[in-house]
Amino acid sequence: MKGLQPLFLGIFGIFAFSWLGMTVVPNLQIGSLNPQTDEDGGDVYPAPPSGMTLRGTQVYAANGCVYCHSQQVRPDYGGSDLERKWGERRSAPRDYIFQPIVFLGEMRTGPDLANVGHRSMPEAKGANASPAAPATPAAGAAAPPAGAPAAAVSPAASSVASPAGPSAPAPASGPAANAPAPVPSLVADNNGLTADGKPLPYTAEWHHRHLYNARSLSEDSNMPPYRFLYEKRRITGAASPDAINFAGDPDEEPAAGWEIVPSYDAKCLVAYLMSRDQSHPLKEAKAPATVAPAPAKEAQK
Ligand code: HEC
Repeated sequence: MKGLQPLFLGIFGIFAFSWLGMTVVPNLQIGSLNPQTDEDGGDVYPAPPSGMTLRGTQVYAANGCVYCHSQQVRPDYGGSDLERKWGERRSAPRDYIFQPIVFLGEMRTGPDLANVGHRSMPEAKGANASPAAPATPAAGAAAPPAGAPAAAVSPAASSVASPAGPSAPAPASGPAANAPAPVPSLVADNNGLTADGKPLPYTAEWHHRHLYNARSLSEDSNMPPYRFLYEKRRITGAASPDAINFAGDPDEEPAAGWEIVPSYDAKCLVAYLMSRDQSHPLKEAKAPATVAPAPAKEAQK
């Protein structure tokens, strides 16, 4: 009997200690964070999510996206997330204050999604992404200015860039000649499509086609198709403007007279994905200075 008292005390102590360390102290530290504002009380970040985004959170949870995708950018001393261009700075607790369910995630079968709403071009993953990095998130409007700096540095960068764009016909002659060649596949025409009629990466149209069947956009994707979030229906009257654009993929194209449209849940999920954006500067999580030298060197050349 004498030995039991210290045993129970010890067990109680361990639980009390963990509770203090894992619940009380973190709650004191970050439990009552408010949005960050500038000195005049403007420029509020983060902003509360919309209703569609909230519902999209539940769709994301229900479909297990978190098993393959994280939503946290580690600091440069903790991994190479910044080098992978998954974010311009590390994630901080304040980024998550309005999220009813926080999907930090612990597996990365697919890319981190903390900033997927901020990505505008697939080249962001490439080596020569620095000129395109400051592009604004409004994909349609941003495309021409984003292309412009790329063309401006291209005499220096084209040798580096050529593996990424094998179609470019070795534009050794001058800046004027190579300007039109590498750009078209990424620049939106008036309908917000690439030159071959496919949706521009990370637009809503792109997300829907990707969710419906990721392999329709990247052939060797491991991401499962979420076809059940879409409805195949007969076109009655005019075709729906929401119907998935399967340009260049005859396998998925529905038969004439049919169309595949997103359900409300699919739309909410895409609204949620497009709201994933931690690019706003936070005073407690500065972008590392090491990111700056690369473009500076290029500018000197
Ligand atoms: C079995 C693992 C797996 C699951 C589950 C999964 N994904 Fe993915 N996802 C991937 C892989 C692998 C890629 C990279 C290839 C590609 O783009 O298709 C990817 C890519 C993506 C991308 C593009 C990211 C980028 O930066 O290019 C988005 C957006 C995305 N997934 C959203 C989702 C959503 C939403 C769900 C849940 C409905 C989900 N994924 C479920 C594996 C998964």
